[in-house]
Amino acid sequence: MTSQEVFKSRDGAVFTDSQGHPVQEPYAAQRAGQNGPLLLQDFFHIDQLAHFDRERIPERVVHAKGGGAHGVFEVTDDISDLTCSEFLGKVGNKARATARFSTVGGESGSADTARDPRGFSVKIRTEEGNWDHVYNNTPVFFLRDPSRFSTFIHTQKRDPQTHLKSADMFWDYLSQSPEAFHQVMILFGDRGVPDGYRKMHGYSGHTHKLVKADGSFVYAQFHYISNQGTATFTQEESVKIAGENPDYANQDLFEAIERGEHPSWDFCVQTMTPEQAEKFRYNILDLTKIWSHKEFPLRKIGKLTLNENPKNYFAEIEQVAFAPSHLIHGVEPSADPVLQSRLFSYPDTHRYRLGVNYAQLPVNAPLNPPANFQRDGAMAFNNQGFRPNYQSSILPLNYKPAKYDFSKHEKFVGECVNQLTVVTELDFEQPRQLWEKVFDDAQRKRFISNVAGHLSAAKSDEIKQRTLAVFGAVHPDISAGIAKEMGVSNPAPFQPASADQMIAFRANIQ
Ligand code: HEM
Repeated sequence: MTSQEVFKSRDGAVFTDSQGHPVQEPYAAQRAGQNGPLLLQDFFHIDQLAHFDRERIPERVVHAKGGGAHGVFEVTDDISDLTCSEFLGKVGNKARATARFSTVGGESGSADTARDPRGFSVKIRTEEGNWDHVYNNTPVFFLRDPSRFSTFIHTQKRDPQTHLKSADMFWDYLSQSPEAFHQVMILFGDRGVPDGYRKMHGYSGHTHKLVKADGSFVYAQFHYISNQGTATFTQEESVKIAGENPDYANQDLFEAIERGEHPSWDFCVQTMTPEQAEKFRYNILDLTKIWSHKEFPLRKIGKLTLNENPKNYFAEIEQVAFAPSHLIHGVEPSADPVLQSRLFSYPDTHRYRLGVNYAQLPVNAPLNPPANFQRDGAMAFNNQGFRPNYQSSILPLNYKPAKYDFSKHEKFVGECVNQLTVVTELDFEQPRQLWEKVFDDAQRKRFISNVAGHLSAAKSDEIKQRTLAVFGAVHPDISAGIAKEMGVSNPAPFQPASADQMIAFRANIQ
């Protein structure tokens, strides 16, 4: 049904209060006489005020601005040699899906064309339960130690005193975090501002595991490849559109679907055996690194098509709750510390943002209603009737046998360590490849101009110099180019000869 049809169909409804009593006149507060006070007995009016007061729920602490749609995820290729997932095991299997795309740092009313990573989330409702993909449009992230996440986000949002965005906070954090520079290179390159949500790819970033019935597994990275191709905006275009139409991306997605142009993405996987992972140049649990496509080619699994706009944005997009911990059998998380942290963080924020029974909301409810021991709490409208809320010998639940055992998986033995990020020369290799091999001359020029424009707004010379030094470690031409454009002196390029030097660099600046 189109939105116009939905709108027309509303006309037939009889107007009522929240308890279903017909109300003759919506705009008629009850008053004692012509000039007297209002009457407390006016349930309709008081209920209306009270409900309005509670209309807003907390916006997402990150990724607050977004838009989404529904559609279908279809398994197109056989990967039964990789996983025992029933859903993925049969070509032609289809599941209803809901996708949400977003920017990260801005509030829910902020501009869609901000230079920022884009969120790329998909909820796939399979017979085996919900499978959520909570991905970004970039294959890497700013950190590999999750303890940094909340403070990192603070520096990308607003200054506690001025409530303004601060280039000093932004670059102060990043220049102390050279491992972030792979993502920084992408962010300030052309891909930093995608043209809407339809023309961008999505990446799990994290390594997962695909598991077979015998318990054997391969490591996996997932990719959504846009069938619309990719398109981006320059800095100038993005600023202009932000002023003219801050909701550009939401409008583009909604109107394309209304026109019947249904965007789609191929869902693909890169895999690596545990033996290959041992020999791999980078740590596969390091979210700041990619796996080369040449060495680990993409293999297609399925296709996501978005063909249906939400009828109600709040119920179907604002209230949707994605979590990396919502996985199906045959797909497991790896030990990537950032992923492990996220497994906890998302359901936790949903309990706060939407309430403890967020999984019962229609958009979040799995196809098979859960049968377990969870009960009660606010808004428990599917409270499992008379089913015992403990393991009863009289009315036992049916338990399915485990599909595989993990006994052959990685064994983790070691001392407790708390220094997850030691920056070494390895961290500069992949950003350097972007500069040397991926960017052409015009892209390099735009990159320099984008960084110089942003970094110039920082007031602290120390922060500017340190940022230039880290860019110099990626490539001396980058720091020289930015310094020239900003009209500041170019610091001696920072070239760590050893891991020890890098640690010393970090200790020095902290
Ligand atoms: C949203 C935490 C890293 C992708 C969120 C939300 C939280 C959060 C609390 C709000 C969720 C909600 O209110 O529903 C974290 C933490 C991270 C982390 C603690 C690291 C320790 C990442 C990474 C990615 C990512 C690495 C991508 C690879 C997303 C996306 C959303 C989101 C796409 C929006 C989900 C939606 O559309 O509802 N994150 N995040 N996050 N995050 Fe993260």
